[in-house]
Amino acid sequence: MSEYKTIDVAATQMLDKAKEIGFLTTFDRAKAQEPRCTFGNTGICCRICLQGPCRILPKKPGGNKGVCGAADYTIVARNTVRYIAGGAAAHSDHGREIAETLLHTAEGKLKDYQVTDVDKLMYVAKNIGVETEGRDANAIAKDVASAALAEFGRINEAEELTWLKSYAPENTLNIWRKTTVMPSGINLSLAKLLHQTHVGNDSDPVNIIFGGLKVALCDIDGQHLATDLSDILFGTGVPVVTEANLGAIKADKVNIAVHGHNPLLSQMVVKAAKGMQDEAKAAGATGINLVGICCTGNEVLMREGVAIATNFATQELAVMTGAMDAMVVDVQCIMPSLRSAAECFHTKIVTTSPIMKIPGSYHYAFDEARAMDSAKEIIRLAIDAYKARDKAKVSIPNITNKVVAGFSLEAMLNIFKKVNPDNPIRVIADAIESGEIKGIAALIGCNNLKGTHDQNHTAIAQELAKNDVLLLAGGCSAQAHALAGMMNGEAVQQYAGEGLKKFYARLNAASGLTTDLPLMFHMGSCVDYSRMQVLVNMLAAEMGLDNSEVPYVVSAPEAMSEKAVAIGAWNVAYGNPTHVGVIAPTVGSQLVNDVVTKIAEDVFGGYFFWEPDAAKASARLIDILEERNWKNVMRK
Ligand code: SF4
Ligand code: FE2
Repeated sequence: MSEYKTIDVAATQMLDKAKEIGFLTTFDRAKAQEPRCTFGNTGICCRICLQGPCRILPKKPGGNKGVCGAADYTIVARNTVRYIAGGAAAHSDHGREIAETLLHTAEGKLKDYQVTDVDKLMYVAKNIGVETEGRDANAIAKDVASAALAEFGRINEAEELTWLKSYAPENTLNIWRKTTVMPSGINLSLAKLLHQTHVGNDSDPVNIIFGGLKVALCDIDGQHLATDLSDILFGTGVPVVTEANLGAIKADKVNIAVHGHNPLLSQMVVKAAKGMQDEAKAAGATGINLVGICCTGNEVLMREGVAIATNFATQELAVMTGAMDAMVVDVQCIMPSLRSAAECFHTKIVTTSPIMKIPGSYHYAFDEARAMDSAKEIIRLAIDAYKARDKAKVSIPNITNKVVAGFSLEAMLNIFKKVNPDNPIRVIADAIESGEIKGIAALIGCNNLKGTHDQNHTAIAQELAKNDVLLLAGGCSAQAHALAGMMNGEAVQQYAGEGLKKFYARLNAASGLTTDLPLMFHMGSCVDYSRMQVLVNMLAAEMGLDNSEVPYVVSAPEAMSEKAVAIGAWNVAYGNPTHVGVIAPTVGSQLVNDVVTKIAEDVFGGYFFWEPDAAKASARLIDILEERNWKNVMRK
């Protein structure tokens, strides 16, 4: 057993190397932070105003409330929804940037981008009510992009968010309307929530949580339009075969990692690299090798088949190989410590967003008007860095695993179509109704070093598969499975139960792919989770169920970011039981904790549960699926 908190053998090798050279990684820093402050850990520390921090000290006279009189439930509720605000702001701002790029592309202002997937454009346009008849693609794209941008500035509270109301089922929409969590504008909802949680404002925990849910619905709206518009600009994922783990970094090539979340630049880097292989050869390398980390990695994996180097917790370790020439980062989940890691080697860290700079790194202000030129300049920087690489410092773990990915919802439906051409979603409905599979689990979220890196992601996936649960995956969770060699057909043979194996055998016989389907369908980055929800919406309609009756569960074993809190919250509002593998900072208030883990079910059908133990979490997820199936049989 490794002395480090990871199950990844390649990561262990690089952690040994970091120790040798005296570089303290995130694994060391996580250890150094223990023990954590109990007040912060349970959510009862308030820093909303300068009289704070106030902590809840129940036994001290006067100490059971903050200076202003805020009780534990107010403090916990406010802290929780402010996480949601951070997450929704990140996702929707990502979406807004994609929408602006699509708009400028459609207006002919950007030479390096174009509408790539006209089918997706037509599908989205029809869904959101944009006229398509007799119009050219750019005119339609302009209206779709404008509709997306209108989501942000809308202030008329009588109007609703376009993406939400176009995709969510009527029953679900009505629940949101009745509970007043249906948003109108993204910016408005975010501002209102920050206002609502200002010192001396709302102290009603339920009202605060509903304000948070409204913003969580803005999160999925912003996510959904980001996905739709990225597909339109760069293409919708189709099945790809590639590899994952640090062995994807190649000693004889110029290695460039793309890391972060936004595909606007990374897509250009992939495109530019294709035409610059000779420049790399002239520098003495055998070519350019691109690898992905975190969700920018997922974006270029889905669309271009770029290999995965590693996921969030182990990003510094890609630098530790000594063979990483440049790491190009955009936004979200990028550790500031990458720069210090790079100092041990020749690696260039290149930041590209005006809101994400790291002192001491290279900043290439990304300008969509000269995207290709920027991409080329960055690649040349990497080629120059390669020339300065110290070969004596290179040690790349010889570990890669086969990955089959690229399963946009469209790609999945295309495969189901081969089994049932008239009604592809019926393929899953039939398998559930016949008891062949128990239901579907979405394996999502981040890495969190409060636990062991990737351990619970993989353990839960294996246990669910053994119990015939069909698995979807995304974000850093998907990468955990890919790194561990579970995202391929061999893993189905190794881990799936008999029912799930039969389901796969039927799909494999019909799929027409050159490889077997993987144990989990990788549906993209964490901004892409609406793909999973649309699948559930379709399944609910096909099975004649409410969303909250579908045997569907969500698991985020290592949730970490504010985005994860927002994602969890909209999943609950959509009716999905949602497992989180870290104890949430809601437990400091029994009332708030009960609202999100119990009462939420009565209102929305979905709820959270916290369970750090993989075996217990899997058992509960399976119980929930079985209970939903049983209720559905009884209802008939
Ligand atoms: Fe303390 Fe109230 Fe200020 Fe929070 S808002 S820091 S509880 S005084
Ligand atoms: Fe992500």
